[in-house]
Amino acid sequence: MTSLIVKNGTVVTASESFRADVKAEDGVITKIASSMDEDADRMVDARGKLVVPGGIDGHTHFEMPFMGTTTADDFESGTVSAAAGGVTTVVDFAVQQKGGSLLEALESWHSKARGKAVVDYGFHMIFRDLNAGTMGEIRRVMAAGVNTFKMFTTYRREGLMLDDGEIAEVMKEVSSAGGLVAIHAESNWLAERNVQSFLGQGKTAALYHLLSKPQIVEGEAVQRAITLARYVGASMYIVHLSSRMGRELVREARLSGLPVFAETCPHYLVFNDSVYRREDAAHFVMSPPIKAEEDRLALWQGLIDGDVKTVGSDHADFTREQKALGKDDFTKIPNGVAGTEVILPLLYSEGVGKGRLSVNRFVQVTSTNAARAYNIFPRKGTIAVGSDADMVVIDPDRKVRLTADFLHAKIDYSIYEDYVTQGYPVATISRGEVVMEENQVVARPGRGSFVPRGPFPGNRCPLFA
Ligand code: URP
Ligand code: ZN
Ligand code: ZN
Repeated sequence: MTSLIVKNGTVVTASESFRADVKAEDGVITKIASSMDEDADRMVDARGKLVVPGGIDGHTHFEMPFMGTTTADDFESGTVSAAAGGVTTVVDFAVQQKGGSLLEALESWHSKARGKAVVDYGFHMIFRDLNAGTMGEIRRVMAAGVNTFKMFTTYRREGLMLDDGEIAEVMKEVSSAGGLVAIHAESNWLAERNVQSFLGQGKTAALYHLLSKPQIVEGEAVQRAITLARYVGASMYIVHLSSRMGRELVREARLSGLPVFAETCPHYLVFNDSVYRREDAAHFVMSPPIKAEEDRLALWQGLIDGDVKTVGSDHADFTREQKALGKDDFTKIPNGVAGTEVILPLLYSEGVGKGRLSVNRFVQVTSTNAARAYNIFPRKGTIAVGSDADMVVIDPDRKVRLTADFLHAKIDYSIYEDYVTQGYPVATISRGEVVMEENQVVARPGRGSFVPRGPFPGNRCPLFA
């Protein structure tokens, strides 16, 4: 049996903060006490520090073929980056091939992760098209441990978009099977028209990515997704929400009793659309694009009020060379940024440090809410006897500049280069094993395991209870 004790820290959960020592045996928390006078194979001193549940990043894209290239981080470098930033579970998106089977996609993502991941992982399924077999596969995919299905209202040219009828049909089946639907909400038609108009005028710079997707592009699709979810009675969340309008629509739906919430991402909370006027604007091209200052503030308000329940990174990173594929045409810039490593540092620094979030709300939005939404609570998402010993020690006094050299993603720049955090994770513990200490990731590739996520009890996502 292997054991570990985290001593002298302030333990923080979604609802409480208290001084305690925490013992883990064989990867599971076995004892929490105000003071423990016992030995363990490994002692971690957390005096003056916070001990929080390991972060759950419910939105990564490791080794994903996209827009003519493949994301730079695979499951090894991606989960190393996650562990370095205090994330102990990632949920990555398996992508159905056009015309292919969901189960094949799942198997293909298992082989990408197997032998490589340093922290635990699960999968969502990207539902790309309806064909004779795929509707019938939904329940089989759920039986194989995947209970979330993402659909796109855009990326028609990339072959990812479903129409409203298809979305409603999948929503109905996923919901009645006890799963959760995730929607990438942007109006393909509004965006595509703007794109054609800009390209027609020779406007090819990265700035036009932003200008072709103003907040109505997100708002229209969020409204439509909510209408469809209401119509079929589905539980649904909007991934990577970026706008005030989107947040208001989610709020209205939630207050009217619909099982709907939003996820946002660190980049929408830190930057505003001025980044698209920088020389390195292409590095900030993702979809949806980063919006105005009022949108950034509305997303913080959403986290404070509970409409925005989770923060996922949408980690889909590309090197300078890959981003340069779109130097003469913004529609060819591979969409996406790195982010799994900065969720906890930025939410702590900008959220707790600046008085926007209590430490308990910080734990909810970085861990507990995702565990509930994805049906892995209380195995993950809390510090409690019987839970996996996934914990992060945060030093509230540690200041870190988020340079490319400091961070672990396999890209040659950092969009956070100018940002200095106040507070930083100094140790990450995954199932009782210290996997990161002082920014060094010491874990063996392949130690991370697949976390199956079954149907919700009573077919209701506990986040809506
Ligand atoms: O720009 C983004 N978000 N890239 C990754 C794919 C997606 O839509 O999540
Ligand atoms: Zn998306
Ligand atoms: Zn994504």
